[in-house]
Amino acid sequence: MTRLRDPYSLFGLRNYPMNIALKSEDFLARLASGLDARGLVTDPADMAPHLVDWRGLFRGEALAVVRPRTAQEVAGVVAACAQAGVGIVPQGGNTSLAGGSVPAGEGPQIVLSLSRLNAIRTVDKVGMLIEVEAGCVLQTAQQAAAAAGRLLPVSLGAEGTAEIGGIISTNAGGINVLRYGMTRQLVLGLEVVLPDGTLINGLRHLRKDNAGYDWKQVFIGSEGTLGLVTAAVLRLVPAPRHKVTALLAVPSPEAALSLLARAQEEIGDQVSAFELICGLSFDLLARNCDLKAPLAAAPWVVLMQADSCLSGIEEAMESVLAGALEAGEATDGVVAASETQARQLWALREHITEAEQREGPSVKHDVSVPIADMPAFLAEAEAEVARALPGCRANMFGHLGDGNIHFNVLIADGTDKAAVNRTVHDVVAKYAGSISAEHGIGRYRAPELAHYKPQAELALMRRLKGALDPQGLMNRGKVLG
Ligand code: FAD
Ligand code: MLT
Ligand code: ZN
Repeated sequence: MTRLRDPYSLFGLRNYPMNIALKSEDFLARLASGLDARGLVTDPADMAPHLVDWRGLFRGEALAVVRPRTAQEVAGVVAACAQAGVGIVPQGGNTSLAGGSVPAGEGPQIVLSLSRLNAIRTVDKVGMLIEVEAGCVLQTAQQAAAAAGRLLPVSLGAEGTAEIGGIISTNAGGINVLRYGMTRQLVLGLEVVLPDGTLINGLRHLRKDNAGYDWKQVFIGSEGTLGLVTAAVLRLVPAPRHKVTALLAVPSPEAALSLLARAQEEIGDQVSAFELICGLSFDLLARNCDLKAPLAAAPWVVLMQADSCLSGIEEAMESVLAGALEAGEATDGVVAASETQARQLWALREHITEAEQREGPSVKHDVSVPIADMPAFLAEAEAEVARALPGCRANMFGHLGDGNIHFNVLIADGTDKAAVNRTVHDVVAKYAGSISAEHGIGRYRAPELAHYKPQAELALMRRLKGALDPQGLMNRGKVLG
C-alpha cells in the first residue's frame, strides 16, 4: 500500500494512526464500485437529512451517505473504510434522542444507512419469532407479526420511522417494557458486521442456545460503536385479544404507585403499560398540538393498559378503578370504550415529545431510579430545578412502571444546559439511578457518562471497544466519546 503525502493531512485527519492509501475521491470511487447506482449519496441536499438529528441539536459532516442493499455490501463498505481509516456512523431511522445517529468527532466519516436492508425474511407462528433485516421500520415488522396473529412487543412513539437495527443498537424501551422487557429481551439472534468488515451470522431460530459466549449481548445497546447490526431474529408473543385502556387523574406520584401496586395485584402481569404524565404535559399538548385530555385539569395523570388472550380483563380493570377511586388513589378517570378511543388516549402520550419540541428549547433527561423512590426523586429534582434554575420548568412524563421518567426541563433563553444536566443528574445519582434509561448515551450524554459512570466500568467498556474497534472507526464521539 503506497503512502501518499503525510496521511494526517488527508481528510483533515489528526491523531488517527491509520494507513491512508487513498484520497477521498479515490476512496469514494472505490466504495461506488461495490454498490449500485443508489448506493452512494454525495449530493449535499440529499445528504443533509442524514447529517442532522431528529431534535435539530446535532449536525455533522460526512464524505458521503452510503446505502448498501445487502449485508455483504455492508461488509464490503466497512472493509474499505477500515483499510482507508474512514469512520462509520451507522444510521437507521435517525430518530435518536441522544445525538447518536449523525457524525460527530474528528476525521473523515461516512454515514452508513441500513435502510435498504429492509426485508422481513421469516415470520414463524409456531416458533414465535420473526427474522428481519436491520433497515425494516419497526411498525412494518409489528404489522407483519400482527398479520400472523402474533405481537412484536416493542412500541414507541417513533415506531413509524425507527428501524429494527436502531432499536436493537439503542436497546430501546417504549411503553411495554413493564410487561415484555427492553428490546434486549426480544433478541434471539443477530447478524453483525465487525469494524474490520467481518460478517458474522448468528441468526439461529432457537429459544435456547448456550453454546459459548452470548456475544450478541455486546452489540445490543452499543449504539453503533462496536459494529453494525444487519439482521435479527426477534421473539414474538401471542397477540392479546382483549385490551383495556384507562386514563386516570391521580393526586400525586405516590398515589400513582399505589394504583400500580393495586393493578398488578389484581391483574398481574397483564398490565402492559403504566405511564405517569404531569399536568404541564397536557398544557403543552393543548397549546402546541391542539390535543385535549377527556379529563379535568389534574396535577398528575396515569395512562394504563392491560391486555390478555382471555376475556374478563375489562371487568378486572373496572374493579381496579373502583378500588382506586374509593381509596383516593385516583380522583377521576375514563376507560376507552373502543379501539378508536384507546388510540386517542395513546395519541396524547405519544405527542408529548412533539408538543414539548414546539414549546421551545428543553434539556431532556431520560432517567431511572428504583421504582419506590420515584415520588421522592421527582419532588427533589423539581425543587432543585426551581431553586437552581430560575425560569425553567420541569415537564415530567414517562414509564413509571419501569422506574423511568423523562424529566425534561423547559429552559429560559441563556440557561446553561450543562448546569441543567448536572442539577438533575446529581439528584439521580443520589437515588443510585441511571442517567440513561432507554435513549442511550450517544453524543448528548457522553460527558455525563464520563462524570457519573464508575471508572472501573468505563475502563471495562474501553477494553471492549479496543478489542472490537482498535482503529476507533465506529461512531466516533459517541458513548465513550
Ligand atoms: P438511529 O437514530 O438511526 O440510530 C440510533 C443509534 O443506533 C445510533 O447510535 C446509530 O449509530 C445506531 N444504529 C442505528 N442502526 C444501527 C445498526 N443497524 N447497527 C449498528 N448501530 C446502529 N426511545 C425509547 O427507547 N423509548 C421511547 O419511548 C422512545 N420514544 C421516542 C419518541 C419520539 C417521538 C422520538 C423521535 C424518539 C423516541 N425514542 C424512544 C428514541 C428513538 O426512537 C430510539 O432510540 C430508536 O431505537 C432509534 O431507532 P432508529 O432506527 O431511529 O436509530
Ligand atoms: C417517550 O417516552 O415519549 C420518549 O422516550 C421520548 C421523549 O423522551 O421525549
Ligand atoms: Zn420513553
